[in-house]
Amino acid sequence: MAANQDIVFVQIPVLRAFMKDVLLTLGVCAADAETVSEVLSEADARGIPSHGVARFKGFYADPIRQGIINPKAIPTIVRDVQATAVVDGNFGLGHPIGRFAMDLAIKKAKKFGLGFVTVRNSNHYGIAGWYASRALANNMIGITGTNARPSVAPTNSVEPMFGTNPIAFAMPVDDEFPFVFDAATTIAQRGKVETYARLGKTLPDGWVIGEDGQCKTEPASILSELTKGKAALLPIGGIFEETGSHKGFGFATIVEILSSVLQQGAFLQQLSGMQNGKRVPNCIGHFFAAVNMECFGDVEEMKKHAGELLKTLRAAKRRTPEQEIFTAGIKELRTAQRSEHQGVPVDSEVIAEILSLKKDFSLSQYQFPFE
Ligand SMILES: NC(=O)c1ccc[n+]([C@@H]2O[C@H](COP(=O)([O-])OP(=O)(O)OC[C@H]3O[C@@H](n4cnc5c(N)ncnc54)[C@H](O)[C@@H]3O)[C@@H](O)[C@H]2O)c1
Repeated sequence: MAANQDIVFVQIPVLRAFMKDVLLTLGVCAADAETVSEVLSEADARGIPSHGVARFKGFYADPIRQGIINPKAIPTIVRDVQATAVVDGNFGLGHPIGRFAMDLAIKKAKKFGLGFVTVRNSNHYGIAGWYASRALANNMIGITGTNARPSVAPTNSVEPMFGTNPIAFAMPVDDEFPFVFDAATTIAQRGKVETYARLGKTLPDGWVIGEDGQCKTEPASILSELTKGKAALLPIGGIFEETGSHKGFGFATIVEILSSVLQQGAFLQQLSGMQNGKRVPNCIGHFFAAVNMECFGDVEEMKKHAGELLKTLRAAKRRTPEQEIFTAGIKELRTAQRSEHQGVPVDSEVIAEILSLKKDFSLSQYQFPFE
């Protein structure tokens, strides 16, 4: 992968419309194309370039063209018991499946106070926080997690067994921004390694372990070795129990259990997307929960309580005077406000992918600032 530092800023509505048009051409219905392009452009807007337009061609457009993702799949509810449900994604795009399942959890929480929905046979759904945040407008807490392609080694192992298994928790708060914690259960997720590779940067020590048990820092070779099982990302806490590796491993295992066991679907290395050397669907699983705050008391009082809690944390004594204390969600939403005006950064590799899609799908109506 060639090192490159050429960054061009592109306005979000342009990227979003472009991705939507590509998906429409690929046979995705308008509502689903809208959801996918919204989640991806929202990732870029919030400052998570690892999960935005950079993933569009390789993770979604190409697999549709290769017949790995079904662009016309409609999620079906295969089991529906009171506050719970199991949804089959039927190998469709992960974003509309995720939206469907989160909204089902919210609907159930309106009726039962809680909603818990698990999903099988889905695909990569991007940023978990987008789904959890759908609960906010309903005065609910939203929680979601997903399993992912195997790339992470358990504590005391060097073998990639499970995915970067993110978890997101969103809560409405009487504060500057809602509380939205959304992160992988690993020190760094695979998308960050891809971003470093595109920018030609070396990884910090401690993100990745090789099969020889030593840390690795060269992102391009790591990406190729991850798929061959010769390198692995590390759980939160890193290599050693002394630094809490077993805790990150435990959190990731919880996400894997909730994403696969209750829907009785694929798990761990079964999610590699490969069978006998052939590309097959990943069969990703997710879970979504909604908690209706109204059932617990006065919602405004609870939001005030949570707001006070967060403000108190941010007012803690600083390590150094210039180091701001954040609570989850603030950085992303501040970045999103900036992105609205300045657009989002796109690097040369992503530019090349956008231009090749533009050509392939004859979308000459788009004129990008990098052309
Ligand atoms: N779909 C998938 O398979 C998959 C897999 C892994 C990650 N992801 C997504 O990738 C995205 C990025 O994940 P990540 O692990 O790189 O996240 P990250 O390490 O950047 O952490 C982000 C979280 O930490 C909070 N945060 C950042 N700095 C903070 C500070 N100083 N104090 C308090 N909180 C702070 C942010 O508000 C955010 O909630 C997420 O949206 C995640 O859902 C998706």
